[in-house]
Amino acid sequence: MAVLLMLASTQAYGAGGVKVEHLGVNNTLVRIAGDGRYVLLPVQESIDDATVNVLVDGKLDRTIRVRLAKSKVDYSVPFDLTPYKGHDVVLNIVSNHDRTNVREAKDDACWSAITLSDTFDTTNTEKYRPIYHHTPVYGWMNDPNGMFYKDGVWHLYYQWNPYGSKWQNLSWGHSTSTDLVNWEDKGVAIEPDGLGLIFSGSCAVDRNGTAGYGKDAVVAMYTSADASQVQSLAGSRDNGATFEKYAGNPVLPLDSEARDPNMFYDESTGLWHLTLAHALEHEMLFFTSPDLKTWTATGSFGKGLGAQGGVWECPDLFRLPVDGGKEYKWVLLCNLNPGGPFGGSGIQYFTGDFDGKTFKADTDADGTVPTKWLDYGKDNYAVVSWSDAPDGRRTLIGWMSNWQYAPEVPTKQYRSANTLPREISLFTGDDGRVYAATVPSPETDSMRGKASVRKSFRIGKKPVSVALPTVNDGVCEITIDIDAQRSEKVEMTLGNSAGDKVVMTYDPKAATFGFDRTHSGLTDFSVDFPAVTTAPTFTADGKMSLRIFIDRSSVEVFGNGGRFAMTNLVFPTSPYNTFSIKADGGKAKVGDLTVYPISTK
Ligand code: FRU
Repeated sequence: MAVLLMLASTQAYGAGGVKVEHLGVNNTLVRIAGDGRYVLLPVQESIDDATVNVLVDGKLDRTIRVRLAKSKVDYSVPFDLTPYKGHDVVLNIVSNHDRTNVREAKDDACWSAITLSDTFDTTNTEKYRPIYHHTPVYGWMNDPNGMFYKDGVWHLYYQWNPYGSKWQNLSWGHSTSTDLVNWEDKGVAIEPDGLGLIFSGSCAVDRNGTAGYGKDAVVAMYTSADASQVQSLAGSRDNGATFEKYAGNPVLPLDSEARDPNMFYDESTGLWHLTLAHALEHEMLFFTSPDLKTWTATGSFGKGLGAQGGVWECPDLFRLPVDGGKEYKWVLLCNLNPGGPFGGSGIQYFTGDFDGKTFKADTDADGTVPTKWLDYGKDNYAVVSWSDAPDGRRTLIGWMSNWQYAPEVPTKQYRSANTLPREISLFTGDDGRVYAATVPSPETDSMRGKASVRKSFRIGKKPVSVALPTVNDGVCEITIDIDAQRSEKVEMTLGNSAGDKVVMTYDPKAATFGFDRTHSGLTDFSVDFPAVTTAPTFTADGKMSLRIFIDRSSVEVFGNGGRFAMTNLVFPTSPYNTFSIKADGGKAKVGDLTVYPISTK
């Protein structure tokens, strides 16, 4: 009987310095055969991840997940071979396609497109990439986290996928800035390991060297996420460029889902305080430690209080003066998803007291804890603050997207930007409650170009229109003061010649500000994207002052000195080039209407 022996490796060829050998229907080896700093991996966004096991001299070094292209290549991502110079590198790839014959595997688009290269081109290819908001140079980004300030530099880390524009391979990407406006990419700072992906966390400067990394080292606490979510420690002796993970990790394991450790140091007691999101229980847990390694539970807050929908994530806890005076209150930021004010993710906060062990929220006269929102748009999430900021500042930044549709927004090279950096303060509202106000960090004023001003005027039914700048696709800041005491409604519209529009409405009697993006441009990539968001204006006098920031695919509105903020993404088919304003049911007065073009360095 003749036996026909088929060799599993049905094809081996070199494409761009690699050799491809198909072992089975969904199993292929890619041998690195030539020279090059990177192997460029071709990605197709719409398919499932393949598992890429990186074998170095035959041993498993790491596993990454990449949507390796099957029928078409959307873009490529770089896998850096520098650490393996002089060693044999083989990628043992396992995919999950529905097929029965190894011959079909050969047709996958990725095999002929995998190539070695000394460079990876990060030149921007996206018309929606903002120019003055932080974005990753490529790849997926969610939460900003681990931010600290040291020696004149603002450090920003973020949840990053270096191997594609969807959530996966979570690492801490790193960017730095000296002015909170221009950001420099520093690549990856903390990478996944045997304990799992690197989820969100926090950093601080360890002035006394309590954690063993030396005086003034930067320490990081983050969540190691795999089958469990546990808390881990790392330290940096080079100002946050690289981190050494603590060999005894995890330092804080719990038997239920908990994540996003956020810490600060109390000089007076020599103790670190940590807030941890007990995600599914809708509460925040508090711990103390002298050295970031041994932790003692001290309390919890949140069960049944405030907005409860979804999971609680990404806490932050800090103290601020009320109305800039001598009284202080603690603020507990509590991001949640879903359950935000307009669906999907949102950021609620509580004001109250923290006694070193637990947090107690302010109550209304009837004993209830009011729900308060830090942003009244759909696209500000995972907001946390910089540790060690100068001059007593409390500076925040958020992820400018929403979990409802973040993976679907119409960009590919990168996905998601962060909000403008903002300063938070506390004010007493007309109802006697203490609220948080947020304004753009003062550094953002430096972006303003030559103002074009339309001096005070009156408006009625007929819209008054001003042109927006054309430079940089019209990115700009608009400031406007409105006195609407004698009208029922003031409507402001951002528009373009394609008919895309954003309609903002100020209703002085209801004391609300609305933002309608249902016809703002591309909206049909998700049913959850078209939306109208509404904020209370926190003033009853019929007057409104606004700062509106437009940056290609985002609009951020700050009203009445930051008493409300509203952050919404928009994807106009061409840049908005007019701003028009009109009043219904009477006349309104407009103070100066100023448009500042914006450019960065
Ligand atoms: C919030 C979050 C965090 C987690 C991270 C994972 O957006 O779910 O709780 O640490 O994203 O990327």
